[in-house]
Amino acid sequence: MAQHKLIVNESDVTEVTLAAMAPTPDARLRQIMEAFVRHAHDFVRQVDLTEEEFEYGLQFLARIGQANTDLHNEVTLAADVLGISTLVALRNNPCSHGQTASALLGPFWRQHSPDCRNGDTIARSNTPGEPLLVCGQVRNVNGRPIAGATVDVWQASPVGLYENQDPEQEVMNLRGKFLSDDDGRFHFRTVRPAGYPVPTDGPIGELLRAQNRHPYRPAHIHFMVSAPEHRTLITQVFADEPEALATDVVFGVTRPLVGCLERRASPKAWASEGKDGPAPAPQCRLEYDFVLQPGVPTLPEPPIE
Ligand code: BEZ
Ligand code: FE
Repeated sequence: MAQHKLIVNESDVTEVTLAAMAPTPDARLRQIMEAFVRHAHDFVRQVDLTEEEFEYGLQFLARIGQANTDLHNEVTLAADVLGISTLVALRNNPCSHGQTASALLGPFWRQHSPDCRNGDTIARSNTPGEPLLVCGQVRNVNGRPIAGATVDVWQASPVGLYENQDPEQEVMNLRGKFLSDDDGRFHFRTVRPAGYPVPTDGPIGELLRAQNRHPYRPAHIHFMVSAPEHRTLITQVFADEPEALATDVVFGVTRPLVGCLERRASPKAWASEGKDGPAPAPQCRLEYDFVLQPGVPTLPEPPIE
């Protein structure tokens, strides 16, 4: 390693650190680490970081790592509540060609969710809640239906817990993978999702409380839509509940992702059509289409097992 100049005072530290990292052969790693060191050193100077605060910050990072388990990802949660996950998702997935907007993956996607047939329900255990029918079409940016696209869905139960957080739910409850049919269409049954708090029993909960922030996400369903020769779309569709949408703790909501959960066949409509017999229960329905752009399908690193 090349010798660096000896540090005389704090103003030399950044230059000396950057010089030590300059030989990094991988150009992208060199660029990322140089920018990271510059920003981190600027941050220390800007806030005049004390030794106590530095120690606390290091312990905080260590606790985030220690809170990670196979079933819980505190590191992802940290990136989410800081707005970093949403920023990365939106910068890497612009909607410039009419493709569906992306949203952050979140810490609850699991690989190997059950393969389902169109029309199946993803509510596998007794999951009290309002029945919901979800349907849509997968298309390419030219408007052509994509047959055989995989529509991987996951959501929290109406009490606001994912199955891996809740011993009352069967394994893989409210998760499933569907294939679009020859017209690119898919449909499945589930229960209406509710808003829920992100986990707050770890260091990130502590941070939210210290910042006077509530921990809630608006009601949503997650989708990962993939097809050969297309970029995988990771997104969420939200229930149209304006107040909750505007205060999402992880900043995941963008306007095009607000869906319409509407109730059809209301008793009034049934009566006005002159039908006899008991009116059918109104059914809540979400219709949402997904548009994929050409590209290479990829799978993210699963945040939990
Ligand atoms: C979720 O929607 O599953 C989620 C996203 C970010 C943090 C916590 C949960
Ligand atoms: Fe979620």
